[in-house]
Parts: sequence; C-alpha cells; structure tokens
Amino acid sequence: MLNKTIASAPGKLMLFGEHAVIYGYPCIVTAVNQRIYVSVNKIKEKKIIISAPQLNTQEYQKDLSKIGKGDIPKEVKFIEIGLKNYRNKYSLPTGINIVTKSDFSSKFGFGSSSAVTVALIKALSTLFENKLSKKELFSICYKTVLDIQKAGSGFDIAAAIWGGTIYFISGGKVIKPLRIGEMPLVVGYTKVKADTSTLVRKVGDLYRENKKEISIIFSLIGDIVLKAKVKLISQDWKGLGKLMDINQGLLESLGVGSIELSKLIYAARSLGAYGAKLSGAGGGDCMITFTPNTKFGSIKKEITKKGGVALDVKTHAEGVKIEKA
Ligand code: PMV
Repeated sequence: MLNKTIASAPGKLMLFGEHAVIYGYPCIVTAVNQRIYVSVNKIKEKKIIISAPQLNTQEYQKDLSKIGKGDIPKEVKFIEIGLKNYRNKYSLPTGINIVTKSDFSSKFGFGSSSAVTVALIKALSTLFENKLSKKELFSICYKTVLDIQKAGSGFDIAAAIWGGTIYFISGGKVIKPLRIGEMPLVVGYTKVKADTSTLVRKVGDLYRENKKEISIIFSLIGDIVLKAKVKLISQDWKGLGKLMDINQGLLESLGVGSIELSKLIYAARSLGAYGAKLSGAGGGDCMITFTPNTKFGSIKKEITKKGGVALDVKTHAEGVKIEKA
C-alpha cells in the first residue's frame, strides 16, 4: 500500500491558434521543460492540508466534509476543486497532505494552474491505486478548469498530460501528438501578468458585436494552424516564422496585443528572427519567436534591452509522470 506519491507535469506554450480554439478551430501547443511537482501523502486526520511555499501558502487546512465549500483562496483553488472533483468521481478514503513545488513563476503564463491540477490528480490516483487513462485524467482536470474559469479550451491540460507538441481541438475532441524535434524558439516574458479570463471575455464581446468579421478572423487563424502543422513536421522554420507574423496580425485585430508584447516582437523581427507572435491569451505574459540559431544571443539581448526577460525553455517536454511512488 502506498503512503506517498509525487507526480510532475510540464508547463506549456501555445504556438498557434489561441482564442480561435475556443470557437472550435484547432491550435498547436508544446509542453516546456519547466515542471510543477505535487506530492501527496495520506494522513490520519480527516482533512486536507495544502502547502504551496512559492505562493506563500503554508498548511492551508480544511475538513474533508467541507472541500469545495466556502471561500477558497486563489492560491489553492485548483487543488481544492481538483480534489473535490476527484472525490465526487472516485473517492477520497483518507485525509491528504499536499505540497507543491514549481520550476517556474506562475506569472509567466506557462499554465501553472493546469499543470498543478494534472500533477495532483495523477499523484492522487496513483496513491489510491486507481489507474486512470489519459482521457479520464483529461476529463477530470478539464472539468476543474471549467468549474473555476468558466471558459477554456483545455489545451493547457492536454499539454500537461500528453507532453510533446500537440494538435488540439477544444474539449479534447482531437489530441494528436506531432512528431517533431527541438524548435529554434526564443521566449520573451513582458513582465506584465495577463488575465486569461478577462481577455477571453473581451474577445467574446468583440465576436458578439461583429460576428461576421470576427468569424472570418477565427477561420483564418484556423487555416494558419493547419499550415503550421505541416510546416512543423517538415521543420520549415522560415515558413513558420511568416505564419507567426500573420497569426500575430490577426491576434492584434482581436484586440489582445499590447505595447510590451509589440516591443519584444519587433525587437526579434528587427534582428532577423523568422517571425514572432504573442503566446496565450495576450495582453502580456510571453511572446515567442522562431529564429536562426546564429541570432539567438543577439535576440535574447535585445529582448532584455527592450524591458523583457529572455527565458530559456526547451519545447516538446515529457508529459505528466510519477516521480516517486
Ligand atoms: O493565457 P493562456 O496561456 O492560458 O492561453 C489562453 C489561450 C486561449 O485560447 C485564449 C484560451 C484557451 O483556453 O484556449
């Protein structure tokens, strides 16, 4: 019988297709080599204890009977609602002590909430020897995200579970791993934290006011994703750079660009990147750029000069895994 397990799940970067994915179009996401670790162990008391030191949360406690009820601080929301959903579907036979640890700051927009949810449910199901398929894991984690955020495609959950680089359709209707190697990618963090729910709502309002026009933009983004899928497999970085620039233009027309993002995007382009775009909901967080290997150093320097932080991330990382059982 197991007493303690640790699972880890990777963060993600959206490569192509953000926002349009909410409206039924595909997107492409890659898992990054920045992980979140969740350790769970059984305790005698009938309660949960959650510690997330990097979020300044030490020993947050709740009785098992009260999980998911009352005020839940945002630092532990995904964990508590994840536990509730796990218990409702399966069972939580004992109290649990949970500790999280992250390789990356929750500010970057790498999907810390989805990674923590996936690692938690994987660790719990292993602890209670309840073998879940990837699809079952997806379903419970996606429900948790929707319970909290109301909207979302689930692309980040899929990246945390499957890892690698995947072609994805909302709700996990299609989850297709793409066989590709390492990408010549540089990531620039704007130092501005974006609020995904607000931006998704903003695009929703724009869509309702301008259905015909915005539908065309979503559909064009969908076309870019299909082209990018082919070019990723053939490693046509130059062609992919051009698609990034077009995708960025379309995202700008959805109103999710920002000055900080543009500064970093133009910095990369002006130094000879193949192309650049924002990654995720927009409004801040990170931009990404495909660049010739010889330009890596100078583009990273320019990103820093323009007020950003050049992040060293490797793409195509391994999906959720058990670190210790
Ligand atoms: O802000 P992020 O990195 O969580 O990305 C959001 C991407 C959207 O397409 C806008 C939303 C979604 O759930 O797909």
